Amino acid sequence: MTSLFEDASQVLHNNWKDSFTIPCEGLYPFQWNWDSGFIAIGWAHLDMERAKSEIRSLLKGQWKNGFIPHIVFHNEAETYYPGPEVHAAYLSDQSPEVKTSGITQPPVLGFVLEEMYHIAKDKEDILKFIEAVFDLVYLNHHYFYTHRDPAQEGLVYICHNWESGTDNSPIWDFIWETFEVPNYELDRKDTKLIDASHRPTNKEYQYYIHLIELFKQWKYDDSLITKGSPFLVQDPLFNSMLIASNESLIRLGKILNRMEQVAQLSRWQSMAKERMNSKLYDEQLDAYVYYDLRNKRKLSHVTSSSFAPLMAGIPSKEQTARIVKHFQGGRFSGAENENFLCASFDPGSEFFNSKKYWRGPVWINLNWIIYRGLRQYGYDALAKRVKKDTFYLMEKYGFYEYFEPSKEINRSLDKGYGGNNFSWSAALTIDLLTNTI
Ligand code: SER
Repeated sequence: MTSLFEDASQVLHNNWKDSFTIPCEGLYPFQWNWDSGFIAIGWAHLDMERAKSEIRSLLKGQWKNGFIPHIVFHNEAETYYPGPEVHAAYLSDQSPEVKTSGITQPPVLGFVLEEMYHIAKDKEDILKFIEAVFDLVYLNHHYFYTHRDPAQEGLVYICHNWESGTDNSPIWDFIWETFEVPNYELDRKDTKLIDASHRPTNKEYQYYIHLIELFKQWKYDDSLITKGSPFLVQDPLFNSMLIASNESLIRLGKILNRMEQVAQLSRWQSMAKERMNSKLYDEQLDAYVYYDLRNKRKLSHVTSSSFAPLMAGIPSKEQTARIVKHFQGGRFSGAENENFLCASFDPGSEFFNSKKYWRGPVWINLNWIIYRGLRQYGYDALAKRVKKDTFYLMEKYGFYEYFEPSKEINRSLDKGYGGNNFSWSAALTIDLLTNTI
């Protein structure tokens, strides 16, 4: 196909480590949870055996209770902090043999399996694979609805900003305001590898590490975390990924004749969709927002996570018509379309920072999620624009981790932000290249 395709394929090949793919050499030298899901979609187009291996490797890190950690430390590496000794997952009696972290990430595996099914040429072979891992992924959903939804209302909580996937979003500033942390000695490596102004601050890292220290005191026991964690948030992206994955598991479960699981998934699903709309939709902002369960308040700010519910089929047609206005002469596009889609935080907000990780830059996985959502609701022209913006950035700079949203600032830049040769940017470009719209 195009050279963009060849270049993207090269990135995945270079980041492949025998049975899984690292997100980025140096900066992220282990296996990451949702990264692996997106990466498996890329591999599915190139080499289905590698896509399967990616998923199997991740599932080696699954805990007995179904929990899937955000990092699996299959290998040793000196270039990342905090490593396995800081996370100390062995403190939990649920943890597996391989070293892992004790926090999770957005649950993408369900819909990744369905993507692999659609991409596969040999349907019989892929169904055999899906059948072999179906119960493990189902168990992960069971874990969430059993241990992360104390009111049994259909929405699950995250207890750490790293679980959101949007690590230093300004949303988390409002949580950090609610408690004090001691001064931990940090051994940061990220700020030595790339421009520190693109990364979270040391003050933020004190909070990140403090939460891990609390969870370790509680041996990662979910009931103690529910009772005591100062960070307990219902996040729109996390819940949308779970709902999209529920939907995929329901469809795959029907093909595999797992009717008991299909019935349970459907019960979780109808409650979850209803609650997303009644609790997380903000009528004033026309967007899905966050609920701080610990302090019982809505955190009403629009982020790229606010648009993820489209991919999960959560909003009505009317809601969607209002939501997409953010992209057409609105907050995210800018009145004169002066921004590339899609900034990770409201560009009109005082907290927006166009260079700093999840405080503003464009991320390719969110663009992919938004693209899928827009297509699902028939907004093909807008979906095309998201794809065009994505390709523009990738062609100009290469497969960086994140990108500047302002067209004006981009005129004088010659690099993207964060790490380069970033696996999910490459993997999802491969997938977008194969879509005709
Ligand atoms: N994304 C986090 C980091 O930057 C870890 O999940 O280290």
